[in-house]
Amino acid sequence: MDKKVVLAYSGGLDTSVAVRWLADRGYEVIAYMADVGQGGDFKKLKKRALSAGAVKVVIEDLKKEFAEDFVFQSLKAGAVYESGYLLATALSRPIIAKGLVETARKEKAGAVGHGCTGKGNDQVRFEVTVMALAPDLKIIAPLREWNMYSRGEEIEYAREKNIDIDVTKKSPYSLDQNIWGISIECGVLEDPWNEPPQDAYRMTQDPKKAPNKATYVEIEFKKGCPVALNNKKCGAVEIITKLNEIGGKNGIGRTDLVENRLVGIKSREIYEAPAGWILHNSHKELEALVLDRELLHFKQGVSLKYAELVYYGLWFTPLKRALDGFIDKTQVKVSGTVKVKLLKGTASVVSRKSPHSLYKKEMATYDPGDKFDRTVAEGFIKVWGMPYKK
Ligand code: ARG
Repeated sequence: MDKKVVLAYSGGLDTSVAVRWLADRGYEVIAYMADVGQGGDFKKLKKRALSAGAVKVVIEDLKKEFAEDFVFQSLKAGAVYESGYLLATALSRPIIAKGLVETARKEKAGAVGHGCTGKGNDQVRFEVTVMALAPDLKIIAPLREWNMYSRGEEIEYAREKNIDIDVTKKSPYSLDQNIWGISIECGVLEDPWNEPPQDAYRMTQDPKKAPNKATYVEIEFKKGCPVALNNKKCGAVEIITKLNEIGGKNGIGRTDLVENRLVGIKSREIYEAPAGWILHNSHKELEALVLDRELLHFKQGVSLKYAELVYYGLWFTPLKRALDGFIDKTQVKVSGTVKVKLLKGTASVVSRKSPHSLYKKEMATYDPGDKFDRTVAEGFIKVWGMPYKK
């Protein structure tokens, strides 16, 4: 038990070297691979883990749970970090860490490990989640302990140890992908003055080259969650996958952000989240139709806090749970349909309707049929402005 560790394994250089490094220190390593929609050849990666010295590989498909319980919860909350990041990476860490903990319990392991670097947010998210769910488990972060500081040194180590590693296919960027989007950093992006080159993007077409003709999509929501696309019922994974494809073709969902990391530094990262932005914009518009002013404005503040909690790795915490209670309550009437126009990088909502709409044409209209009682406006203004009358 003491020398058994479940390691979050992606199949990349860092985690493959980490398997060997742990094995060399007497650990029995179980490589845990969570499928959150990152793509990749799991069979090949499993072989790689075994060749690096893992005694066992556990692969779990978490896509459905991730989409329903993490991504859609964040969508309902309206969570966006620093105005540009829909939190794809941040949302995936608590569910992967939960998978690590559950696997450690099943395998009777006394430790879990991850391959995050010592200066990022992800180490915090993994470890805080493990601490919250299983405080007794030991946490090992090989990359914070070993004294290899460059990719070159790691490749050298992998060669020495005969780990089958694919170094030719290396992208000049650091990537992290799942169904909710991709995060791209490093390389030329490290200079915030450099415009991101087209080759940095993975999920979206260059908006300039996107079709000149608009594509329309109709999305139906029930209690804040998307349930149908173009009048066809869809599960969470299906709707996100389809919108990624349609949105990607139309160049939707690119953002470029200098962000504040939890560990105190600023970093520059670019993001793609085609389905994410289409759904976020749609959901926001539907809320505009059905939520009253006070609730809507109050919820905007909660969205900011919620995004911080997700970014900071505080998913499994009392405040996050309490806010979920509030969020779910706000979504009771958020049902209806939104039509979005996708064109050359923009996703604009052009139509919205709901059985719970608070929009009353007879109150808003400037045409005949107006039911708004203008005679009460004068009195209202007198009282409203009274404090400011000198
Ligand atoms: N900055 C993002 C976050 O902290 C993404 C981190 C991972 N990015 C990457 N390219 N590997 O959530």
